[in-house]
Amino acid sequence: MALLQSRLVAAVFRCQPAAVTLQNRASSWWSHVEMGPADPILGVTEAYRRDTNSKKMNLGVGAYRDDNGKPYVLNSVRKAEALMAAKNLDKEYLPIGGLAEFARASAQLALGENSETIQSGRYITVQTISGTGSLRIGGNFLQRFYKHSRDVYLPKPSWGNHTPIFRDAGLELKGYRYYDPKTCGFDFAGALDDISKMPEQSIILFHACAHNPTGVDPKPEQWKELASVVKSRRLFPFFDMAYQGFASGDTDRDAWAVRYFIEQGLNLVLSQSYAKNMGLYGERVGAFTVVCSDVDEAKRVESQLKILIRPMYSNPPINGARIAASILTQPDLRSEWLQEVKSMANRIISMREQLVSNLKKEGSIHNWQHISDQIGMFCFTGLRPEQVERLIKEFSVYMTKDGRISVAGVTSGNVGYLAHAIHQVSK
Ligand SMILES: Cc1ncc(COP(=O)(O)O)c(C=O)c1O
Repeated sequence: MALLQSRLVAAVFRCQPAAVTLQNRASSWWSHVEMGPADPILGVTEAYRRDTNSKKMNLGVGAYRDDNGKPYVLNSVRKAEALMAAKNLDKEYLPIGGLAEFARASAQLALGENSETIQSGRYITVQTISGTGSLRIGGNFLQRFYKHSRDVYLPKPSWGNHTPIFRDAGLELKGYRYYDPKTCGFDFAGALDDISKMPEQSIILFHACAHNPTGVDPKPEQWKELASVVKSRRLFPFFDMAYQGFASGDTDRDAWAVRYFIEQGLNLVLSQSYAKNMGLYGERVGAFTVVCSDVDEAKRVESQLKILIRPMYSNPPINGARIAASILTQPDLRSEWLQEVKSMANRIISMREQLVSNLKKEGSIHNWQHISDQIGMFCFTGLRPEQVERLIKEFSVYMTKDGRISVAGVTSGNVGYLAHAIHQVSK
């Protein structure tokens, strides 16, 4: 009996820690938090990393690679860093709006050397945490001060992060027709039709160039018509320029639409990123610009942007802004950088052409013209989800389910293999 009792006591004691843990778990602060879905693009990279096939390709992530498939640090960036190192600079805080020299040079790059907006001073540019941070500051600014509408219209489709950025800033998301799957091109008639029916004074987002994810940009004549409808509907244009220079290889040409809209009297807001065109991905260098009616308005807007930024991150990081500012303001670095932008864009354009010609060589009878017609880092191949699945499973060619490939991940060494794989799943 005594033995039984002591065994019982021991059993109860053994159970106790489990019961205590269970109780703790039940009273946890976060027991209601559900597992969120993985980021679709980062998920592609994780699956790619696990793959042991030596021919594997990662065409999911939007970062430039050189012709050996390696990350590329620009010479102009290396030189700017060396100059900075030699100066033994301090690491003091930047002002809330960032490095003034950078902000001015950034506005000039976007709006042009002879911009009336810049000369008259009727604008404010603040340094931001790359393009994403810029869009978020823009979203929050509109949420707080744009009194005419809550609705932001995005092109269908748009960069996947646009929706959560603007939604989390408290705005309502709507869409307008943009991509035509039948032609793998721009649905100009659809876009015009939808834009002309938007409630007056709605906010409309445009990708300034190198539309992500489709690689489809309006032509200058089409931009002119879009601007005219935007004006007549009194819509508010928000330009996202994450790829200036990456589309055509020419930073002025890629900023054409933004400048044209301003010339038409449209006082827009603009997000810029230096992740792609300077390869400063992890440095997080960007800018947000508000084009105002006059200097006084710009001063008031600036004061409110600072009030928005201060409780978010106080002030932006200094290192990348210094790099970008030296490149933009020192003529020798700037001209070297412009050459490097051109060569990155040209390599992408040439990969598009080689992919099309290799598909022909493989014997594909499909019309792949859209691959070379589209522009910028991304290409919407038109491949269906089941074809994408086969590319991943049978060929270790990784991309997002929508059939988007980052052309920057294609090299002269693997373009033949890619064409072969695409032909096998699409014939
Ligand atoms: C359309 C678009 N906007 C903005 C960004 C912002 O990028 P980042 O925050 O790295 O500058 C990206 C990046 O992929 C993009 O494609």
